[in-house]
Amino acid sequence: MKLTSPRRHPLLLLLVPAMLAATFGSARAQEQPPYLDDRQPVEARVNDLLARLTLEEKISLVHANGNFTTAGVPRLGVPELIMDDGPLGVREEVDNHFHVLGHVDDFATAMPGALGLAATWNTNLAKAYGTVIGQEAVHRGKNIMLGPAVNIQRTPLCGRNFEYLGEDPFLTSRMAVNYIEGEQAQGISSCIKHFAANSQEFERGSINEIIDERTLREIYLPAFRAAVTEAGVMSIMSAYNQINGQYCSENVHLLKDILKDDWGFKGVVMSDWGAVHHTDLAVLNGLDIEMGSGAPYQNNYLAGPFLRGLQAGQFPVAALDDMVRRHLYVMFQLNLIHDPAVPAPTNAVPPSPLSTQEHQATAQKIAEEAFVLLKNENLLPLDAAHLRTIAVIGGNATAKFCHDGGSSNIKPPFEVTALEGISNYVAGRAKIIYAEGYYPARNWGAPGLKPDGTAATAADSSQLANQAAAVAKSADVVIYVGGLNHKIGFDSEGGDRKNMELPAGQDKLLAKIVRANPRTVVVLIGGGAVEMDDAWLSRVPALLYAWYPGMEGGNALANVLFGDVNPSGKLPCTFPKRLDDTPAAALDAYPGRNGTVIYKEGLLVGYRWYDTKNIDPLFPFGYGLSYTHFAYTNLNLVTDGSPTGLPLTVEFELANTGSRAGAEVAEVYVQPVNPAVSRPVKELKGFAKVFLQPGEKQTVSVTLNENAFAYYDPGTRSWLAAQGGYKILVGGSSRDLPLTGDFQLARTLYQPDRVAQVAQSAR
Ligand code: BGC
Repeated sequence: MKLTSPRRHPLLLLLVPAMLAATFGSARAQEQPPYLDDRQPVEARVNDLLARLTLEEKISLVHANGNFTTAGVPRLGVPELIMDDGPLGVREEVDNHFHVLGHVDDFATAMPGALGLAATWNTNLAKAYGTVIGQEAVHRGKNIMLGPAVNIQRTPLCGRNFEYLGEDPFLTSRMAVNYIEGEQAQGISSCIKHFAANSQEFERGSINEIIDERTLREIYLPAFRAAVTEAGVMSIMSAYNQINGQYCSENVHLLKDILKDDWGFKGVVMSDWGAVHHTDLAVLNGLDIEMGSGAPYQNNYLAGPFLRGLQAGQFPVAALDDMVRRHLYVMFQLNLIHDPAVPAPTNAVPPSPLSTQEHQATAQKIAEEAFVLLKNENLLPLDAAHLRTIAVIGGNATAKFCHDGGSSNIKPPFEVTALEGISNYVAGRAKIIYAEGYYPARNWGAPGLKPDGTAATAADSSQLANQAAAVAKSADVVIYVGGLNHKIGFDSEGGDRKNMELPAGQDKLLAKIVRANPRTVVVLIGGGAVEMDDAWLSRVPALLYAWYPGMEGGNALANVLFGDVNPSGKLPCTFPKRLDDTPAAALDAYPGRNGTVIYKEGLLVGYRWYDTKNIDPLFPFGYGLSYTHFAYTNLNLVTDGSPTGLPLTVEFELANTGSRAGAEVAEVYVQPVNPAVSRPVKELKGFAKVFLQPGEKQTVSVTLNENAFAYYDPGTRSWLAAQGGYKILVGGSSRDLPLTGDFQLARTLYQPDRVAQVAQSAR
């Protein structure tokens, strides 16, 4: 995208008003229209500016005038609104057809994929993640960043899972709120997406998802709700799909009843790119800005057709005014409206990339805390001083990922591959020998490609595998780096995986490698669960899941493999044994038929399904090992003496019983005893990431309020925490909860959403 609006330097934003005041004096200030007077309340400024806009100018604010912009109104000092992807860093500049412009000043820090961020279970890191992106976005002149993406992982196959925050609404909400707080504190708006339930890419532009109200409210919406009501997110992007027969960009229940009425959202709803289908439904059902419908922009649903409809009296002007008010509200919040009589502030510093070492260090730290150690039988950490030859095997050891995967791609100034990270780490100490092992395919189902671009035959592949086995045999230890990638049909926007297999024959290859050298560490890169053949899984001593680790991935990996960093990630999504165990597959409820998919599993998404149905996963939600050990003791449930017993403080002792410093994610689940309505067996309602020195013990407390006990009651349109017994379960994974306590909620509590509140107080 070409920057048509001037860049702003934060210092100038502060200096320019002061300089102007000095130049023009107070007489000028008195002449200023109310909307330019920053002592006025925002609502008054919005209304004043609104009244000055012509009908055509108002219309120009509710649809795009470029790929990532809406028009400005220069005569009134309203600049263009400039957006960008999101959500893993600031995207490189593209033109209005998404063609890369080839700028040299648009490098950005490529953060690890968001699913990796969720695997840290560290809310401080979520805040740091948003802060890095926010700072770089400001520097690049952006006003709205299109992220975070918080769609719930309903199936491991969804191509965009790597951009999302996992299968659990509570974990997703906590990470999203912190991400947004970090990003918006930089003076830009986050745009949380995709509202709602864009949980599959298959037929995403048309699929009609049938989802019951409770499931929607309890599973698919909580992160959006928390973003609005806790983090004060200023923008929200509606999803491509339909929910219960209406496109999300035109969905009155989602946009009006829930978002604007129940949650009191004051900002703008923009459509996903090209996700609008009708003028009347978009106008009347709550969309505020149409994006991505392309040029000629005057033909967009919310441009010419809307204007003509208004002129013909088909739509109330109040509908347009509400859309514009929201747009101006965001602009005032971001300090973008300026006095048209004086030149807009410009950026005094020459444009430069802002991927600083500090930002890169944050990306690396997040990658390090994201790695999940799934298995370790005394092989990790490796001791570089005692290794002569290390075999690094696998196509992902040399692959780069940041600049791929769809709209979340980033152009980092560099990307450290796994092989580079490991080689740098052991330089001068051990010898590295590399073997590719397998030929990756360009897209799902296609044959692997040889380096010369021709298709690999079965004989080629087996030759490569044999070479890898020979290399493995000759080394002291093998580090295998494989898994998935961002090629079409794998982890990539616009399509889903077709099954959960490791592609390119990696199961067979791994079996061969581990036979050749049992001292094998398997590192898998990818956006979530894959099936793992027991022929290798039962024999490899160590398995590490790395997600997409971002631009510093190779360095982060080396630090974890060689023990400079003790892994502390936990799975933000269940790894089932096989695809057929997943709820959507078991119920034949994915990817849908004849354009419709029924969310038959309802609330039983992820661990809620495996726990309720007693299905053993391969690795459960919340699971992850460490190089040290932790012990949980002395659970104490402390009530504050209130009639309900809430808030409840869950207190316990956590000790590091091993010999290395490390961090543990302590997880708190709530299990209703004999609930009157159907509920998942247990649900995550609190967690704490605790850093402990060897031998150190800490008292940890996690507070639970009524939300932790509530389910959504569509009848009363409220959250209902039912009187009765609850078990409080505490431990280090959803399937390892050594501490159990009992809590009795003394009476039923209703927490109505806003509309119901208003209705009640009016009674
Ligand atoms: C994606 C959005 C993205 C937008 C703009 C759409 O295809 O779904 O997540 O923000 O494109 O690039």
